Parts: sequence; structure tokens; C-alpha cells
Amino acid sequence: MVRKKKTFYLKTFGCQANVADSQRIAQAFVNNGYQPTKDVQSATVVIINSCLVRQSAENRIWGLINNLKKLKPNRKIILTGCLAGCIGQKRLSQQAKNLFQKRVGKGVEIIPTKELASFAIPPLRTKNDFALIPISQGCNHFCSYCIVPYARGLEKSRPFEEIIKEAQEAVNQGFKKILLIGQNVNSYGKDLKTSNIKHQTANIHTPFALLLAILHKIPDIEKISFLTSNPWDLTDDIVEAMSLPKIDRYLHLPVQSGDDGILRKMNRPYTAKQYLNLVKKIRQRIPEIKIGTDIIVGFPGESKRAFENTVKLCRQVGFEKAYIAKYSPRPGTAAFRLKDDISPEEKKRRWKILEELINKKNGAYT
Ligand code: 5AD
Ligand code: SF4
Repeated sequence: MVRKKKTFYLKTFGCQANVADSQRIAQAFVNNGYQPTKDVQSATVVIINSCLVRQSAENRIWGLINNLKKLKPNRKIILTGCLAGCIGQKRLSQQAKNLFQKRVGKGVEIIPTKELASFAIPPLRTKNDFALIPISQGCNHFCSYCIVPYARGLEKSRPFEEIIKEAQEAVNQGFKKILLIGQNVNSYGKDLKTSNIKHQTANIHTPFALLLAILHKIPDIEKISFLTSNPWDLTDDIVEAMSLPKIDRYLHLPVQSGDDGILRKMNRPYTAKQYLNLVKKIRQRIPEIKIGTDIIVGFPGESKRAFENTVKLCRQVGFEKAYIAKYSPRPGTAAFRLKDDISPEEKKRRWKILEELINKKNGAYT
């Protein structure tokens, strides 16, 4: 008798951290005798790796779940990623959890990512440019608008040796470029005991700088990129490590707003001036660097004047590109309690101004 083969269809939403997690989830399913398929209709199981960063991302999950239930009513659907993370989190209010649980409805298994795949499982890398290598999970920062610390928990760094081994394995598979991933790569390693860091180099003190310097020594790696750096703990020795020749000359440095009052309400611990000074310092050391950013428009209480401060900062920096988001209240976050008082039309207007200023220079998408 021919056994029908088991297949899985994996849909990934959101950031590179989810893409990296999906590569391990895929390998875990392969290990359990499943084959990947691109045909959602025939798949034995559908896995949704979800993102909750904005309402629009969340809506795409609900749309997909509804369609899947209609397409094949009794098929197994697994929901993982940020939504599953939030439902399993003790820090998120019960009210917020109930809200998410209700939206998921019946007939869907909610399984946290770490139960589907751990770092012990090697990633199933599809051939694309970069080998994605997570260096930490979670975030300690709690920017007031952001659901990530609830979805992914507090920051936990992977041991140095584990990262170096994974980079070496990627090189052995033929990858020449690596992309290090963490919610805040600058703070990588702060939770590791220094005794675990065997590769101490006398003049480098920040663990992330040390990691860059060590990876830089792997001969077959041609390019090292990383996501995401935040402005508040980008130390001088990280800037120094960034100047090494194989480190990417594109730096993603989310500013979120150019207004000091809004930055304070966002719980971002820097001023516009400090951000500008940091950019200046980086450019002095690495003149050819290009800088990109994330910006949120229409945060609660963002006056026209506050928005103008963001426009001004963008003009001063001359960003290479920007991911501009309209503020979206996230249940359970500190900002959720504030009145979402900027109208959708005004958010759109502000979004368009920045989009044209940064991403559509000369009227064309860059
Ligand atoms: N509303 C709008 N944008 C958000 N981001 C995070 N949370 C929200 C929110 N509630 C944006 C930030 C972050 C990027 C990943 O998503 O700009 O840097
Ligand atoms: Fe969210 Fe802020 Fe952490 Fe980034 S640093 S993941 S924006 S809480």
C-alpha cells in the first residue's frame, strides 16, 4: 500500500526574525516526515507564522485563517509566531490575551514558536542571498507602542560559540553573506556571563562589537549585515567594529520620530539632537555608510509641529530609505491607553510627505 505523503504549507508574516524562525520550523517538520509544499489546497497541515506589529498585519492573519477554514474545513491549522507568543505571555494583560484568543476562533492550534523549533534544529535555508542568523531573541526595551517584548519575551542572547558555529555551517553550505538578527543587536550578550566569551579581545568591550570582529575573521564570509540597531547603545567600539571592511555599508537605525516630546512618550531614550550626533559620529568614521530608518507617524498627541520636527530630522540625515508606519494601537502596550487621536486621513497625509521625501526621491521609488 502506498502511504500518502504528509505535506506542510508554511506562511510567514512580518520581520526577518520570523523568516529565520520559519526556516527552523520547516526543518522540524521535515525531520518529522513532512515535505514542504507551495500548494495550500493539498497541504496536510498549514502553519501560519504570525506578526502582530500593526493592525494591518494582524488583519492579514484573520483573512488567511478564514479562507483556510472555508477551503478545507477539517484540515490542521497551526498558528505560531507573535500571536502565539502573546497568548502564552504572562506579562500581557488577560484582557489583551482574551481579545486575541477570541479573534483566532475555533479549529486552530496555537503553538509558541519555541515549541515547534529550537536553536538545536538547523535552519532549512532556501537559497537566497543571505544566511539569516539570529543572535538574540526578545527585547527588554518596551517602547510604548511596541508589542514585540510581549510577543517574544525578554532579550535572550545566543552563546557566542553557537553563533560562530552556525555562521561556519552557513559558509560550508556555500553562503558568503550573513545577516545577524536581533530586536536590538547592540545589546547582544549583555545577559551572557563573560566567562562564556572565550574569544575576549583586549580592546573590545561591547559583546556585539566582539561578535562582529570574530565573525569578520571567518575567511569565506564576504559580507556581514545586521538588523536592528537602536540609537541608545551603539557604543564607540561597535562603530569601530562596523568600520571593518566586510561589514555592510548600510545601517538600519530606527529613529521613529524627530520630536523630543514624542520620543519621550514612545519611551525611546534619546533626543533628536543625540540621534543626529550619533549619525555624524558614524559618518565621520565610515564616510561611505548609508543609513535607513523606521518612522511612526500619528503617534498619540503628535502635533503638526512635532511631525514637522520629524520632517526636519529626515532632511538633516538624508536617509537612504525608510519604513514609514502609521501608528496602530496594540492591545496590552503602554500606548494603548493613550487616545489614538490623529485621524486616519492625517496619518496618511504625514505618511505620504515622508514617503515622498525619503523613498520617492525624484518621483520614482528607490
Ligand atoms: N504602530 C505602528 N508601527 C509600529 N511599529 C512597531 N509597533 C508599531 C505600532 N504599534 C514599527 C516601528 C518598528 C517597526 C518594526 O514597526 O517603526 O521599528
Ligand atoms: Fe519594539 Fe522598541 Fe524592542 Fe524595537 S526596541 S522591538 S521597537 S520595544
